[in-house]
Amino acid sequence: MPAEGDVMATTPDEMKSSSPKKGEDILYDPWCDPKNPRVINFQDVSAAAFKIKAGIMNTPCTRSHMSSITDIEIYFKKEFNQYTGSFKERGARYTLLMLTDEQKKNGVIAASAGNHALALSYHGQDLGIPVTVVMPLVAPIMKVQACRQYGANIVVKGNDIGECREIALKMAKDQGLLYINGYDHPHILAGQGTMGLEIVEQVKDIDAVVIPVGGGGLIAGVALAVKALYPHIKVIGVESERCASFSEAMKAGQPVYVKAESTLADGLAVPKVGVNAFATAANLVDKVVTVREEWIAIAILRLVECEKAVVEGAGATALAAILAGELPELKGKRIVIPLCGGNIDTTVLGRCLERGLAADGRLVKFTVTVSDRPGGIAELTRLLANLGVSIKDMMHERAWIKSDIFSVEVKVIAETRDYEHAKVLKGALESHYTKLRFVNPDQIHSDDC
Ligand SMILES: Cc1ncc(COP(=O)(O)O)c(C=O)c1O
Repeated sequence: MPAEGDVMATTPDEMKSSSPKKGEDILYDPWCDPKNPRVINFQDVSAAAFKIKAGIMNTPCTRSHMSSITDIEIYFKKEFNQYTGSFKERGARYTLLMLTDEQKKNGVIAASAGNHALALSYHGQDLGIPVTVVMPLVAPIMKVQACRQYGANIVVKGNDIGECREIALKMAKDQGLLYINGYDHPHILAGQGTMGLEIVEQVKDIDAVVIPVGGGGLIAGVALAVKALYPHIKVIGVESERCASFSEAMKAGQPVYVKAESTLADGLAVPKVGVNAFATAANLVDKVVTVREEWIAIAILRLVECEKAVVEGAGATALAAILAGELPELKGKRIVIPLCGGNIDTTVLGRCLERGLAADGRLVKFTVTVSDRPGGIAELTRLLANLGVSIKDMMHERAWIKSDIFSVEVKVIAETRDYEHAKVLKGALESHYTKLRFVNPDQIHSDDC
């Protein structure tokens, strides 16, 4: 392992020595070598902060409207305001700026379906450095097009990010391009760490920072920056329970593969954390927790409603952990949460909002059998209207039901004010009708902001 303080600029010599040698594994990435993990240090982060200043936004870090309802003084670092919608620009720009002249001329390559691709494409164009990104066949078309608009050469190939990586590493070798791992290249880590420097400058007397974890680059950089200046600040990582690769790495003492299931926090679905990220972060992270999908949906909903912020699943995960009650020790404390990205598909956003409302008990579904004589359905709708419940959808079923011929099964989707209101509705339906199936909200209680 290189000693802390190693200068990490890409020198031509290093480039030569770090290129795969003859007979060496073609998929070997010399910058992210499991046998030789690199630990970045504070100087790397401060150098990055100085270098990227001109091209990166110092995003606002403001007190949240949710502070009173959570009993935690929350500040949000609004990284979704970066030009391409995420913090990934920090590491991308720094890595591009650190290339040798030859590398700048030849260009770089990456494998990414999202924010790293956008960040690299945009800053590559800004700095006049050719960028190639291999994006999976399932990558959202909007993101593919945005990268092309930023002038990048986009190769849409590979079923998942693992296959894209293989393709990109082979292309890197064949075409003399530098492969940039979006969560583990040491300069990426240093660049992401600049967010930590801004946070401690913007908010005084912080007790903890709560950071979403995918490949671990963000938490590694931020933990390093924050702990170097204020060792007492707790650094807490949050993962989706569908891909708890950092938690597993902590248990194993090294990065290990976990199964990555599809998650709303797609930016966090990295099955094995980075070797450099883990080596840098492992001793600095105080705790890692996981969150369930429904809490991520609720966090996205709360951010829209309370903060007027559109945040993607990965970016909302840290707030999700707070709302889920995973971090009770933070009550009464002052914390900072980065809202790391805003790149969420409009259709996915719509689904998240609906799931969030359903989990809140504000969108309910029930099936009730009512009289099919004149006035039967009117009686049902009157009951709902009297309770202030608004019908969103209603479907009638006559052919396949077994109850008497003069009855109809009505499936209703309705809006209620909150979980308590949904319970009142359920009670009223139970006392009026004998045949009722009420889909219970997940017992997740909500608070208004
Ligand atoms: C919005 C967002 N938040 C958090 C992360 C996690 O960053 P890292 O992979 O460095 O842990 C990502 C990664 O892509 C992301 O896109």
